[in-house]
Formats: sequence, C-alpha cells, structure tokens
Amino acid sequence: MLNIYASTRETLRTLAMFTSALALLVFSGQISADGWMSEEQEKAHAMNVIGPLKSDDNCTNCHGQESDTWQQTRHYSTFKDQHRSPEADKILEALGERSMKRSAECRQCHYTSSIKRGSVKPSFGVSCESCHGPAKEWLALHSKEGGDLAGEDLKWGEGKNESAEQRALRLGKAEDKGMIHSDMIYSIAKNCFGCHTVPNEKVVNTGGHIAGSDFELVSWSQGEVRHNFSSSAGAPDSPTNSPSSIEKTRRLYVTGLMVDLETSLNNIAHVSEKGGIFHMAMITRANKTKTKLTELLAKISIAELEPALTSLPKVFDESTDTSEFPKVLSAATLQFLAAHDGSKLAAIDGLIPTKTKGTPYAG
Ligand code: HEC
Ligand code: HEC
Ligand code: HEC
Ligand code: HEC
Repeated sequence: MLNIYASTRETLRTLAMFTSALALLVFSGQISADGWMSEEQEKAHAMNVIGPLKSDDNCTNCHGQESDTWQQTRHYSTFKDQHRSPEADKILEALGERSMKRSAECRQCHYTSSIKRGSVKPSFGVSCESCHGPAKEWLALHSKEGGDLAGEDLKWGEGKNESAEQRALRLGKAEDKGMIHSDMIYSIAKNCFGCHTVPNEKVVNTGGHIAGSDFELVSWSQGEVRHNFSSSAGAPDSPTNSPSSIEKTRRLYVTGLMVDLETSLNNIAHVSEKGGIFHMAMITRANKTKTKLTELLAKISIAELEPALTSLPKVFDESTDTSEFPKVLSAATLQFLAAHDGSKLAAIDGLIPTKTKGTPYAG
C-alpha cells in the first residue's frame, strides 16, 4: 500500500542500510555504521559539497532567509570561534593534536568540509549540506518541476502550491541522489543524533570531550535552527518562519526519542573500551530515553512501536549486547511514521517540551 505520510524510498533505503555499511553512508550523507567516516568516505562526501556561500549555485542564491537564519546559529559560529576556545585547546592537548580545523577527529562534527587543493578542508560550520546531504548530485533536480531536468525551475515558495504527486516526484528524485528533505523526519533525526551523541570514543575518553548533549529533537529543532519559510502561511510573498504544525511536532517528538534510543544502542554496540566514559554515558542515555518512551506509551498505545520496545531488556547495563536492537527500533520508527500523520496523537501533547534551544529567527 502506498503510504502518504512517510517516504517509501526512505524506508527501503533504511532497510538496505542494515545489510551494507556503505548504503548507510550514502543514505545519511554523514555517518557510517559505527558513526564515523573513513578517510576515503570523508573525501567522497566532501567532493559533493557545494557550500552555502561563495559560488554561483550556492544555497544562499535561492534560500536567502534560510541562510540568514543559519548565520545566527551556533552551527555557523562554531567555525569562527570554537577552535580558539580554551576548552578546545584542552581536548586537543589531551589527544596530542594541535589544530581543531586540521584535525580529522574534530572536523566530521564541527564543520562542513570541501576539497581544496586535493585535500579535505573545513569550509564552514555545520551548514545546509551537513543536514540536507551533500548537494552536487541533487541540486539541479530539487527545484525543478517533477525533478525533470528539462522542466521549469520553481519560483520561491511555489512548492507549496504543487500537487502532492509533483512534489513527491521532485523530492523523490533528489532523495535518490542523496538529498535529505523535510519529509524525511527519520533521516533528519539520524543525522542530528549522529553528531549530538558524539559517537567518537577517543575524543570523549581520551580527549575529555562532553559525551553528548541533552539533545531532544523538538526543542532543539524549533528554536534557533528553525527555518520553515517555504511552508509558512505567508509564502511566497511574505514568508514567515512558522512553527511546525502540531501534527508534525508530535511526529518529531516520537521520532526523536526513538532515534535517540536507536543511536545510543548502536553506539554501545560499537564501543571498544567497555566501562569507559563513553560506554557508561551511552548506557545512561539509553536508560533515560527508554523511560521516556515507556511514559509516552502509558499515555497512548502506539501499535507500531510497542512490540519493538517490549522486546528490549528492562534496563541496559555494561554487559548488555545491544547489537540487534538498532534495526528493530529503526523498522518500528519507520512504520510509525508511515502510519501516523500526527492528528491522532494529542494524548502526548503534555510530554512535548515547549521551551526551545535558542530563539527562532524572526527576520
Ligand atoms: C562525533 C561528533 C563530535 C566530534 C568528533 C567532536 N565534537 Fe566537539 N562537540 C560536538 C557537539 C555535538 C557539541 C555540542 C554539544 C552541545 O551544544 O550540547 C560539541 C561541543 C564542543 C565544545 C564545546 C564544549 C562545551 O562544553 O561547551 C568544544 C570545545 C568542542 N566540541 C571541541 C571539539 C574538538 C577540539 C574536537 C576534536 C578533537 C571535537 N570537538 C570533536 C560534537 C563533536
Ligand atoms: C536555483 C535556486 C536554488 C538553489 C541554488 C538551491 N535551491 Fe533549494 N529549493 C529551491 C526551490 C525553488 C525549492 C522549492 C521551494 C518551495 O517549496 O517552494 C527548494 C527547496 C529546497 C528544500 C526543501 C525541500 C522540502 O523539504 O520541501 C531544501 C531542504 C533545499 N531546497 C535545500 C537547498 C540546499 C541545501 C541548497 C544548496 C546546496 C539549495 N537548496 C540550493 C531552489 C534552489
Ligand atoms: C555534522 C554534525 C551536526 C549535525 C548533523 C547537527 N549538529 Fe547541532 N551542533 C553540532 C555541533 C558541533 C554543535 C556545537 C558547536 C559549538 O558550540 O562549537 C551543535 C550545536 C547545536 C545547537 C546549539 C546548542 C547550544 O548549546 O547552543 C543546536 C540548537 C543544534 N546543534 C541543533 C541541531 C539539530 C536540531 C540538528 C538536526 C536537525 C543538528 N543540530 C544537527 C553538530 C551537529
Ligand atoms: C541543523 C540542521 C539543518 C541545517 C544546518 C539546515 N537545515 Fe534546512 N531543515 C532542517 C530541518 C530539520 C528541516 C525541517 C524542519 C521542520 O519541518 O520543522 C529543514 C527544512 C528546510 C527547508 C524546508 C522548509 C519548509 O518550510 O518546509 C528548506 C528550504 C531548507 N531546510 C533549506 C536549508 C538551507 C538552504 C540551509 C543552509 C542555509 C539549511 N536548510 C540548513 C535542518 C537543517
């Protein structure tokens, strides 16, 4: 059956990813199975990055307001200041490294890199393509009617008035080339947690880097990061940065918790230093998130999630082998997204955080 709420391509690609580490890289544009890119993978990734600024085809040419929003975020400013901070120096010293911008250990999370004179160089902070996927292959498709290269370029905001079929065609073709668009809530969440749980044991255990942040998808995506201009009420003439609809917010909340748990368990499965700081932090994180999911299911029964969650041990500890859990949780999350448009989930509204991380950009 064709589902209208989630991308069927996203589901198929995710299933493939669990049989091939390479598929995961292509799918997320960011992380490999153990959360890390090899040198070759990083190079292939950087080669497809266009960059938000300073080129003819850049994102800012057509997405000025999104770009203005981004330039007010930590994701942008990390490029300017974090490498000069005493906290960064301390981490680098502990690792025996000297420069944050030259260290491969730092750049996969703090920067979007491109190729300069044959090697991978950070060129921006966490920018458009860190979240939406490197764009070289999908750029020309994503703004054309039906993703048809001979078709007409959409004008700003016209996407809103396209038929659902045309939009699905357009974004589907871009998705096949690595774009992560706004309907791909699962992939978006995977990408955020792929950096925000800090899945690099060495940086955490040896460098003393924080072992992940209190990241939650709704509060962290609807504050300083939010850039909902093209879907806003006033688009295309006077776009505003609208909050996501309550239905979407509910789906983001549930997906965020599920992907948080999936990522923590995947990180645990790839740990090499048992009982190390990173391992213990991920166990705490997984237990905390599982408790939140149990509270959620006490408010409302969600048939797509229950079997997966009840199949998990009651509590995770140092000896839990978590390697089989991520794919079970992943499949459940995608089934959830396919079955729910969010309209019937009002029972969870009291659980969704209302305070945001940073203030939304107002123009
Ligand atoms: C796997 C991803 C990842 C890697 C690798 C990584 N960082 Fe971070 N780093 C993060 C995230 C995510 C945050 C922000 C967390 C937050 O805001 O809550 C962060 C925050 C920081 C901070 C601010 C910490 C604070 O307490 O305010 C410093 C300093 C830092 N990183 C330095 C480094 C250095 C130096 C390296 C390389 C040796 C590095 N990071 C590698 C993901 C990473
Ligand atoms: C030539 C103009 C142009 C350029 C350059 C461009 N875009 Fe777009 N983009 C568009 C148009 C037009 C739309 C459809 C807007 C609408 O929905 O009305 C769009 C839509 C999008 C969407 C939303 C799709 C969805 O989820 O609904 C994303 C994300 C996006 N672009 C990202 C980028 C990124 C990242 C870059 C730079 C790598 C970029 N774009 C460069 C014109 C452009
Ligand atoms: C490529 C890695 C990466 C991805 C993907 C990523 N982030 Fe971040 N994010 C970071 C790093 C690194 C920092 C901290 C930068 C610093 O302080 O130096 C950060 C900081 C933030 C902050 C500011 C936190 C603060 O303490 O002020 C917010 C909010 C945020 N991220 C939200 C998100 C959301 C939402 C997503 C997914 C839609 C996301 N991030 C995806 C790496 C990433
Ligand atoms: C931290 C990750 C992150 C970064 C960086 C980022 N985006 Fe997004 N983008 C998202 C998320 C998440 C959504 C979906 C948000 C929602 O629907 O609430 C989105 C949605 C969009 C949309 C569709 C908005 C709508 O109204 O439907 C466009 C267009 C877009 N992004 C373009 C860009 C451009 C251009 C840049 C760089 C200037 C950029 N994004 C940077 C995460 C990011």
